[in-house]
Amino acid sequence: MTAVAAERIPEQIFVPGESDARQLRSALGAFTTGVAVVTVMGADGPTGITINSFASVSLTPPLVLWSIDRASARHGLFTGAEHSVIHILDAEQDDIMRRFTRGGAGFQGLDWSLNGQNAPVIHNTLARFECTRASLHDEGDHTILIARVLRAAHREGEPLCFSRGAFGRFAHHAA
Ligand SMILES: Cc1cc2nc3c(=O)[nH]c(=O)nc-3n(C[C@H](O)[C@H](O)[C@H](O)COP(=O)(O)O)c2cc1C
Repeated sequence: MTAVAAERIPEQIFVPGESDARQLRSALGAFTTGVAVVTVMGADGPTGITINSFASVSLTPPLVLWSIDRASARHGLFTGAEHSVIHILDAEQDDIMRRFTRGGAGFQGLDWSLNGQNAPVIHNTLARFECTRASLHDEGDHTILIARVLRAAHREGEPLCFSRGAFGRFAHHAA
């Protein structure tokens, strides 16, 4: 049996903390994710944040997680909210992604409504998890929020993907 030697691409080995933080960001960026927007209702109206730290935790009970930077101006609002909605964006929704990063337009001119728990629902996203807070865990410079899913929705469509700091589409392998 002959094995065809694949060309080895040189790798960069580093110890987090001893090297530039960009190295750790670059290594983590190799893990491709979807993009989500988490929304809550605050005293000043609806607020959202674009995230990619979303993950499923448990099916029974239905639990999901995401994490928020403790330095975020919106940290207290999101950790303090009992109800939230996590929206998974489709490949055409980079406008919604941009609205909920720093300096974005937020809900202005967006199609949304309140759910039964008074949490803001953005219409027509790829999937949606309407949640109640389960627990909070401070770890390092982030807080992990675990949320219990009360109601969920999903539809057909292609996801918005985030990989190595760039946005794109999922490419299917040829069968
Ligand atoms: C693709 C993408 C993923 C992000 N993921 C997270 C995240 O998981 N957690 C987080 O706290 N901020 C995340 N951010 C940053 C926030 O969207 C936002 O820009 C940041 O909280 C702004 O800081 P501020 O809340 O102090 O205004 C992400 C931004 C982008 C563009």
